[in-house]
Amino acid sequence: MNSVRYGVIGIKGVGSKHVSMAQEHANIELTALVDLDEAAVKAKSQELGVRAFTDYREMLNAGIVDAVSIATPHHLHAIIGLECLKAGVHVFTEKPLANRVSDADTMIEAAEARDLKLCVGHQYRTYRTPQTMKHLIDTGAIGNIMRLLWTWIEFRPESYYARDIWRQTWRHAGGGVLMNQTSHDLDLVCWLIGEPVQVSAMIGNQFHQMEVEDVVVANVLFANGAFGSIQLTINQPKGYSIRQIAGDKGTIAIPDVQSLTNDAADSILLSTYANPLTELVKGTGSIAGQPGASWRPIELRAGLGGHDRLMESFTDAILNGGEPQVNGVSARPAVELINAIVLSAIRKKTVDLPVDRGEYDELFEELSSGSLKIPRF
Ligand SMILES: NC(=O)c1ccc[n+]([C@@H]2O[C@H](COP(=O)([O-])OP(=O)(O)OC[C@H]3O[C@@H](n4cnc5c(N)ncnc54)[C@H](O)[C@@H]3O)[C@@H](O)[C@H]2O)c1
Repeated sequence: MNSVRYGVIGIKGVGSKHVSMAQEHANIELTALVDLDEAAVKAKSQELGVRAFTDYREMLNAGIVDAVSIATPHHLHAIIGLECLKAGVHVFTEKPLANRVSDADTMIEAAEARDLKLCVGHQYRTYRTPQTMKHLIDTGAIGNIMRLLWTWIEFRPESYYARDIWRQTWRHAGGGVLMNQTSHDLDLVCWLIGEPVQVSAMIGNQFHQMEVEDVVVANVLFANGAFGSIQLTINQPKGYSIRQIAGDKGTIAIPDVQSLTNDAADSILLSTYANPLTELVKGTGSIAGQPGASWRPIELRAGLGGHDRLMESFTDAILNGGEPQVNGVSARPAVELINAIVLSAIRKKTVDLPVDRGEYDELFEELSSGSLKIPRF
């Protein structure tokens, strides 16, 4: 195979980016567009000279795609993704991989069983600030990670959620600020720190009409022994987000940035200890005699290119082997962490990971059916 025959399912929102990326990619032949909006999909398909479908199953039956992007509402990622994989088609799904970690498992198993590629739209990992953080951690600049403070403090008015019904419900969105806004940040947390093993959390809805949560606080223990505190909210206009990762040799701190993307304003501060923390702790010096922090700005590394990089790596993996930049296995911990946070908060208990799939699915059904509601404040 020299090129990948490609379809995009869901073309009006971020899917329009997948369409233009596929169209411009040297190793992709865009062959199909799918959307429930018949007028929109026909118009775009005519413009690009590709086939239009309103039902992705008809596209699969036509046998004209080797791979697809799925840029539909959250609940369809697992349903459509699984059908595509079963039809032998490689899948690049937008984030989140799935609403329930049990569905993420099924998708990963289906891809592995058929030797198909599963790529997930967590392009934040490719941006320069996360790339620089990852490099600092991997090269030992801060030593063993001991603590994490991660906040995502922003604002979304009622109209943001009201614009599409799917953003408001457990069944469709799988969560509010967690699944919709901060699944990227939580993916970064798992990618940078490692897998969470224990979660204690609270979620609620302070201001919005929607079913899903608009505020979250969570304490997380990671497999490597790091302690993390996470706060997420869409209720604070002009909020100030703080991200800090502390190790036994130093600390990374990120002053407020909009979204950890490629903003010119992004910056990272690094402070390192003259001696390892283990020595400082055992020392006899008084508190006042502690070494001062040597905070200094770090030059950011180049970014890898966002969505473009994901599609490039996805296509490359299909044609030449290997894995996409963000594959299903590496995207699963973020879904699992979100499920654990919701489970802990609603059942009012500390949750050990791996999350009990059956237990979360039961809770999810209660939330989706409306028989259980999250606390309102
Ligand atoms: N990676 C990112 O930074 C990023 C950015 C924005 C959105 N997203 C994700 O992309 C997905 C879509 O978000 P959006 O904001 O574009 O949503 P949207 O509602 O604007 O667009 C969804 C599209 O899917 C279509 N659609 C719905 N059901 C369909 C079906 N059964 N078959 C075919 N098409 C169908 C809709 O008609 C619409 O064109 C979500 O998962 C979202 O979280 C990711």
